[in-house]
Amino acid sequence: MFIGDLRIHADAAALIDAVAQRWVELAATAINARGKFHVALSGGTTPLALYRRLTHPKFASRIAWDRIHVYFGDERTVPPDHSESNFHMAKEALLDHVPVPVAQIHRIEGELADPHVAAGKYIRELTANLPLSAQGVVQFDLLLLGVGGDGHTASLFPATPVLHERARLVEAVYVEKLEAWRITVTLPVIDHARHVLILVSGDGKAAIIRDVFTTRRAPPYPVQLINPQGVLEWHIDQAAAALLPKELHS
Ligand code: 6PG
Repeated sequence: MFIGDLRIHADAAALIDAVAQRWVELAATAINARGKFHVALSGGTTPLALYRRLTHPKFASRIAWDRIHVYFGDERTVPPDHSESNFHMAKEALLDHVPVPVAQIHRIEGELADPHVAAGKYIRELTANLPLSAQGVVQFDLLLLGVGGDGHTASLFPATPVLHERARLVEAVYVEKLEAWRITVTLPVIDHARHVLILVSGDGKAAIIRDVFTTRRAPPYPVQLINPQGVLEWHIDQAAAALLPKELHS
């Protein structure tokens, strides 16, 4: 069920610190158990603050960066040095500042002329590197997500055919409202991650958070379609949680 474990933080800074702490814990657990930590990053403004925060010695010194394998949940069809590239954002904010081996950074090739080719290459990249869940689907240790004002998550936008994809792990999707192609992991990949953390911050998200948690529209918001086989945690700040009914604040 997409509601999972709802954690409401006092403000954006507290949210970021809590998620950075979860990263430290989840990485240690995965590395102890399996020797590696496979993490999929997202784009967006809240993750940017998280990536910067992770470079602080308080967190960075407690992470075995040489065991971290970095992936992306979605990407824009731009070159890796473009200001809109999720890889570029993560590189500038985090990857340039911590000792993750370059060979362990798996980016989506948004610069390729055909986004379907980029999606196909990323499927092979995931299949070659990730362990499989009990159901035989590639399995991240941690997958970070956000939610857009329209209920999209990763690049799974409302009313796009990719929402029905159950076989392919990664798809190229044309997003009408953006007039742009995106490359995104599909719902089965999200569902089978060991941990999914959804980060939502700011009063601009209060209405969508209320709607996602309290309404059942047809068709559902994309984020409501997540059916976690592992652990799903929502990390929301007070501003974004402001319109949630009291019984959901615990
Ligand atoms: C992207 C994201 C996207 C994002 C949401 C929320 O590449 O844009 O992966 O799904 O998480 O749009 O973004 P904010 O955190 O900026 O609100």
